[in-house]
Amino acid sequence: MQVIRDEYKFSEVYTPPKLPHREKEVELLVNTMKSSYGLNEGLYLIKGEPGIGKTSVARLSSKKLGELVKDFKVIHVNCRIYRTPTSVIQRILSTIHPGIPNRGLSLQEMMSILEDVLKDEKNLLIVLDELDYLKEGEDLVYSLLRSHEGVLGNPLTLLLIARWEPPYLMEPSIRSFMNMRIPLQKYSREQLASIVKYRAEDALYEGTFDDEIIDMIAEFSEHSGNARIAIRMLYLAAKFAEDKKMSKITPELVREAASSVGVVGIDNDMLAALDVHDKVILLAVSRVLSSSSKAWVKMGDLVEEYTLACEELGIQPYKYTAIWKRVRELRKIGLLETKKSKEGIRGQTTLVSLGSIPAEKMAKKIEEILAEELSPLPQKLR
Ligand SMILES: Nc1ncnc2c1ncn2[C@@H]1O[C@H](COP(=O)(O)OP(=O)(O)O)[C@@H](O)[C@H]1O
Ligand SMILES: [Mg+2]
Repeated sequence: MQVIRDEYKFSEVYTPPKLPHREKEVELLVNTMKSSYGLNEGLYLIKGEPGIGKTSVARLSSKKLGELVKDFKVIHVNCRIYRTPTSVIQRILSTIHPGIPNRGLSLQEMMSILEDVLKDEKNLLIVLDELDYLKEGEDLVYSLLRSHEGVLGNPLTLLLIARWEPPYLMEPSIRSFMNMRIPLQKYSREQLASIVKYRAEDALYEGTFDDEIIDMIAEFSEHSGNARIAIRMLYLAAKFAEDKKMSKITPELVREAASSVGVVGIDNDMLAALDVHDKVILLAVSRVLSSSSKAWVKMGDLVEEYTLACEELGIQPYKYTAIWKRVRELRKIGLLETKKSKEGIRGQTTLVSLGSIPAEKMAKKIEEILAEELSPLPQKLR
């Protein structure tokens, strides 16, 4: 039985031609970015939680700008993949001119190649997506904004997308470039329902779902406000129906889909993309929390549990300072929370927690991902 009409419409790279509940933002961004002479230079920011349409707003806006601005070009860099200033610039360069050799060059050297290349580029929009993962972001953003100075190039238009606004955007040297901030909110249950319905009509065969199904998915994903989670639930439920040779998605299949979407509020791709040690740190926090019924773990206990888990997995553990650095990075992307303990007999210590993420589910999920990642079998192609 066929339920899914077009599987591509469930892929991460697909952006629908319309974004219900985000049309205003797209219009605002497009109108602010375009001017009578082309693209308005400077800095733009979209911020908010995962799955609320940030990347989609950027993509749809770029598409519209392409229709309105002559010679418009966009380079979309995902900082979850390109995490350092040099790798981002390398990515930008190789998109404009495949084959430019730039390995082993310093940031300054690469910047000067980029400046040179940008001289010939008009109306170029650079999007730095998932900026939270970028290391030394301040250097990169500053260099990019200043890249046209000193040469007769065209000013840059830079769109940043982040979960949290990095503090360096408030530095006077960068702040003066800021043209527009667009904060996006989580979707409400009603909004999720209309987004899921739209996707179902777009990608599934008629008659394979009804409003009850849509409402259930909206209900199950409401706590996250995350459209990615809601759409993933729809996709899995449709898949399950096909596997079971059924012609319709049933409420039972939605429940099954909801439970396999996994850790509440966290999408699995985000976990899978983390470095192995970050995963082990999350595993250690989850294990201590689920075995202790406390809400916070002491840094010392975390280090101990992490070291044990590394031994169990056969990997070389890091020491305290490196672990603490990673904990701070994980906090930045919303997977951990930290606070200082009250002054005790042995002084203050740092406490770590998973926030509202259920520890047991997190532990199980990470164990699954690690088992696949560290298995001796060849890795599946992604
Ligand atoms: N308003 C919307 N209408 C339709 N689909 C949406 C909407 N917002 C998000 N989506 C879909 O939800 C998923 C996550 O959206 P995305 O823009 O990647 O979120 P973010 O970048 O904020 O994490 C994508 O598959 C996207 O197509
Ligand atoms: Mg995104």
